[in-house]
Amino acid sequence: MHAASMLNIQIPKLCATDSLEAFGSCRMCVVEIEGMRGKPAACTTPIAEGMVVTTQNEALRKLRRNVMELYISDHPLDCLTCAVNGDCELQDMAGAVGLRDVRYGFEGNNHLGAEKDSSNPYFTFDTSKCIVCSRCVRACEEIQGQHALTVQSRGFESRIVAGDTEFMSSECVSCGACVQACPTAALTENSVIEYGTPSHYRITTCAYCGVGCSFRAEMRGDQLIRMVPNKDGKANQGHSCVKGRFAFGYATHKDRVIDR
Ligand code: SF4
Ligand code: SF4
Ligand code: FES
Repeated sequence: MHAASMLNIQIPKLCATDSLEAFGSCRMCVVEIEGMRGKPAACTTPIAEGMVVTTQNEALRKLRRNVMELYISDHPLDCLTCAVNGDCELQDMAGAVGLRDVRYGFEGNNHLGAEKDSSNPYFTFDTSKCIVCSRCVRACEEIQGQHALTVQSRGFESRIVAGDTEFMSSECVSCGACVQACPTAALTENSVIEYGTPSHYRITTCAYCGVGCSFRAEMRGDQLIRMVPNKDGKANQGHSCVKGRFAFGYATHKDRVIDR
């Protein structure tokens, strides 16, 4: 997958990101490789000298679309009123694989009524929108090193849990790495839920400590919607602590002298 992207060939993906180790769970990135049986996942297959890879043909197109159809058959169809409409990888990938219809209906067993965890003051976990890609679990483990999240149970019963409690009383330190990693609206900043998705950003430096973490201050009009750790930041490389990520109320505090 990485080699293909270096050649500007985009392979559909859901569980892979450039900040996490390859995991190979979503099966969106299947490809065909000469001399290899089946359809291996591009994200977990190491490139080799002389390898001949087909990233797009009719069989792959149908397979990806069918996998996406299964995801969407257990996903709320509320895109128009969803907080991250237009900024959602699941939505983008459904479009990229040409999904037009869900043949299974929505009446069978599903997770559409699953409860939200709103215990954290900065973000909400809406289980009904979770596709169990494990990006949040891996972000917590690989980026923050906190191991606060895990996948509980197997198969249809699989779900993301913060130990045996809710987020706020778990080991979570509210760094937001999981929220940044989530490809759907399952983990979303409360500020985005309240005000909508940002429309533009400025690169800035965190105003708190001397580490000097780089951030994208993402705004809508003049309103600061969220602070997103900048992947190109030399000191923080796309991560930060809870203060820089969420405690940005100072930006509009009434005691602040604002030079316009
Ligand atoms: S906010 Fe940070 S510590 Fe909490 S679950 Fe997410 S990644 Fe882990
Ligand atoms: S909460 Fe988001 S990142 Fe975590 S498993 Fe669900 S969809 Fe993936
Ligand atoms: S992106 Fe490769 S299996 Fe998910």
